[in-house]
Formats: sequence, structure tokens, C-alpha cells
Amino acid sequence: MLILGVETSCDDTAAAVLRDDRTVLANVVSSQDQVHGPYGGVVPELASRQHIQNILPIVDGALQKAGITVQDLDGMAVTYGPGLVGSLLVGLSIVKGISYRWHIPYVGINHLEAHLLAIQLEQEVTFPYIALLASGGHTLLYWVKDIGEYVHLGGTRDDAAGEAYDKVAKMMGLGYPGGRIIDNLAKSGDPTSIQFPRTLLSKDSLDFSFSGLKTAVLYRVKGIPQKRPPNSVGWVPPPKPLTQTQLANISASFQSACIDVLTTKLKRASKKIKPQSILIGGGVSANRGLRSALSNFAIPVFFPPLEYCTDNAAMSAALAHLFYEKKNFSPLSLDAIPHSQFSRS
Ligand code: KG4
Ligand code: ZN
Repeated sequence: MLILGVETSCDDTAAAVLRDDRTVLANVVSSQDQVHGPYGGVVPELASRQHIQNILPIVDGALQKAGITVQDLDGMAVTYGPGLVGSLLVGLSIVKGISYRWHIPYVGINHLEAHLLAIQLEQEVTFPYIALLASGGHTLLYWVKDIGEYVHLGGTRDDAAGEAYDKVAKMMGLGYPGGRIIDNLAKSGDPTSIQFPRTLLSKDSLDFSFSGLKTAVLYRVKGIPQKRPPNSVGWVPPPKPLTQTQLANISASFQSACIDVLTTKLKRASKKIKPQSILIGGGVSANRGLRSALSNFAIPVFFPPLEYCTDNAAMSAALAHLFYEKKNFSPLSLDAIPHSQFSRS
């Protein structure tokens, strides 16, 4: 069975071809980092325009790489949510168009569900497991009992972890996306030089909050003391340019706070659920500090290869196989759902 996957939920235009549920014949991703770089974050309108330009060459490229034509396809998979509505509509429209013209059935894929199962593309991890999805758009903890059985354990109440990385990099004028840049800078900094807050919420909470940490970094970068010195009403010190050492120390200290929060929540979830294994996915799972902090975790921790951690269409096509087995296809009336939750239980 040959399935074409298409994924355009945020700022990556992705297409993949899978033979059966594991053999990836093609996995093509076009990143828009250059376009959004000057703004320090994804600009939704620009993202959808880029998808329109990229989608046909990316789909054609995936088919060519797989050595097939559209008529060879048995089915298709496309993300319908969650994501940016304009971006989602581009992928959805192209797949519906192909489906209508060539009479090829398709299924709409929930992007979060695809991330939760992405590890299965590369290796069989036995259910149940805890999954942490940490990307620019999401920071979520799920108890993945089996395919289709997901229990939401916690999520961020404000910023996603990757978003915090991107905003902190923007504050320091370091570029976009910020995660990799800060990860690299942190290597030469002292993680104990600044004690940034670790927001853990209530004692048992499995939710996250990164906005306080982000504000603390902003105060540090702008040179505004968090506690005013006595008799200093109205006094604001002028911002000073940061030295390379200061940039490295802020990066290392920020990263250390992020990792502490993520690992503490994983410890709490493990204590509560007692899973056999943990899966980390999403762009933040590329973080070297996080990977090394979890290398000696009490429970085995799995990281999919990076191409399946970040947004990709192979994980969507893999998930589609389950729907095809049950002939559970989507109608042409399926719409983009920007805030969709799992449609299965
Ligand atoms: O999963 P992803 O490619 O796209 C979505 O946001 O859905 O994740 C991108 C995010 C960005 O916020 C980026 O800064 C972050 O992942 N990221 C990292 C690293 N590489 C990418 N964050 C921390 N450390 C990294 N090495
Ligand atoms: Zn994603």
C-alpha cells in the first residue's frame, strides 16, 4: 500500500510517501525559517503564502523521490488540525483536489496524534508510554495507553517551551529559530550564573508555564533589576549591550531552568503513572542539554530521529494506515480545525 502524507500545520511544507506503515520511500520538508527569521517568530499570513508556493513542488518532489506517480497511490493523509488555519487549508485543499480528480481516498490527521506515534516509524516502542511533546506551538504531556487511547496529563498554560526559546533568542538579537542558537551558546556559558525561576505550579501539577521565565530573562537582558534598589522610584538603568560571556551565561541559565522544569514534570508524571518508557518529541527534543539530562533517567527515554521529531509528513502517512485498515476515510467536506483535539478515543 502506498500512501502520500502532506503536512502544512505551521511553517514547514512537508510531503512523504510510505509503503505500508514503516517503509519511508520519501520524506521531504521545506522550511520557512528564512522568511520568518526577520520577525523572530512565525507570521501566519506569510506562512500560508509560502505553503501555496511550495506545496506542489514538495508533493511532486516526494512522488519523484519515491519513484511513483500520483496514480500509483492507494491513499493520502493530511493534517487538518491543530495549527494555523491558513497553513492547514493549503495542505487540505491540495489533498482534496487530488482525491477528487483521481478518486483516491484520504484521511484527515490530527497533528498531535501523529507526533505521539511518530516513534513507531523507527522502532517499536511498546505501549503504554508517557509522551512529552515540546515544540514551538505545544508543550504537552500525554499518557499513551495504546493507539487511539490518549490521556491528557498536562500542558502549558501560556508559552510553549520552543516559543520561550525563540522569544529569548529574539530578546538577545540572536536570530530565529532560537532553540538551536541558544543550545549552542549554552555550551560555553555557566548554567549556575543566574538563578532564573522554575515555575512548577502546584505540588502535583503536570502543567507547564514558561512566561515567568521569559519575563525574568527579559529583565536580565534589558538590565532592569527585578527588585528596585531602595529610594529608586522611577529609576531605570540604561540598557547595556551584552558581552559574549553574558549572552552565553544567560543562555546556559535559561536552558538549565527549562530543562529542570521539563525533567521535574516527567519525574512527577512517572511517579504518578509508573510507565515503562517515555517518548520525547517536537523540535525541543533536539536540545542537547535535555537529551543529556534524560540520558540517565530512571525509565528508558526514547527520542525519535530528528526528522521525525520536528514537523514531517511521514508520521501523518504512518498514522493513516490505521484508518485505511478500517476503511475510515474522510469526506471532502472535512474542514481545517485550528484548535482540534483528538477525534478518537
Ligand atoms: O516541532 P517543530 O519543528 O515545529 C513546531 O513548532 O511545531 O519545533 C520548532 C521549535 C522552535 O521553537 C525551535 O526553537 C525549537 O523547536 N528547537 C529547539 C532546538 N531545536 C529546535 N529548542 C531547543 N533546543 C534545540 N536544539
Ligand atoms: Zn508539530
